[in-house]
Amino acid sequence: MINPFYGRDIISIRDFSKLDLEYLFRMSDKIQKLSHDELKVLAPGKLLGTLFFEPSTRTRLSFEAAMLSIGGGTVSIVEARTTSIEKGENLNDTVKTVESYVDIMVLRHHMEGAARFAAQITQKPVINGGSGIEEHPTQAMLDIYTLLKLRGRITNLKIAVIGDLKYGRTVYSLLYGLANFNPQIFLVSPPDLMVRDEALIDLEGKAKLSQHENIEEIIQDVDAIYVTRIQKERLPDPLEYEKVKGSYVIDNKLLSKGREDLMVLHPLPRATEIKSEVDKTPNAKYFIQAQYGKIVRAALISLMLNEQPPN
Ligand code: CP
Repeated sequence: MINPFYGRDIISIRDFSKLDLEYLFRMSDKIQKLSHDELKVLAPGKLLGTLFFEPSTRTRLSFEAAMLSIGGGTVSIVEARTTSIEKGENLNDTVKTVESYVDIMVLRHHMEGAARFAAQITQKPVINGGSGIEEHPTQAMLDIYTLLKLRGRITNLKIAVIGDLKYGRTVYSLLYGLANFNPQIFLVSPPDLMVRDEALIDLEGKAKLSQHENIEEIIQDVDAIYVTRIQKERLPDPLEYEKVKGSYVIDNKLLSKGREDLMVLHPLPRATEIKSEVDKTPNAKYFIQAQYGKIVRAALISLMLNEQPPN
């Protein structure tokens, strides 16, 4: 199979097929097995630009750690106020400038469509590191890889996606990505934070979906729960947040009602939706999930640059 990621932009996970994702996961497996020295020769002399106009810990640092691990370098914008955007420069001019410095760009922006806009104006490949409430495709790639590694398969899984399904962009990428693997998905949220209709329409016939208000209704039926934070910063009114805060909490008592091998995933950061007592249980997989972020992103960058280790 020809490398489906070479020179491509990574804007929506919907731009990639099941075969494409499986190709990425095979590359991720290879990356995991390489020694430090073998990794270092994958991207020497290449530069990754991380342009982050919203806060991030995992996405930015894992992309940067991934690039350094495969022998490349990084340059970063970590907040707009340290750049010439503060002087009135627009996103167009910022991207057109950075493209002459780097080989790949990762863009995180509060506006939906920002990553696709950037991809349209630059010849360099752009990775969407999170665009408003729209998508976060590389998060879903690592989420699905985590399911593959820790559950042993992706196909036919039963997964509960819990929390802020209205504003959580990781949810949309995950739902669209999982739809390639015949999932049964239980959407669990407070009524005010139900998944947007656009996803229900898009996923019709591609995934078995049901909507619930209470996790206890379905926890005994699922392989994994994917918990999300209420996106307080995206709610239009502080009163909206007051209505929904604390409306779902994952604790050990709740987990005791699920399967013994139930996986608890979370894209992180978390607020109060998973109690810290869960961290000590074998069900807690969210920190391993974050570790896979570096591996999957190293694999993705390597493929985008068409740098692959020998078989
Ligand atoms: N999961 C995720 O996007 O985390 P950060 O916001 O820390 O990058």
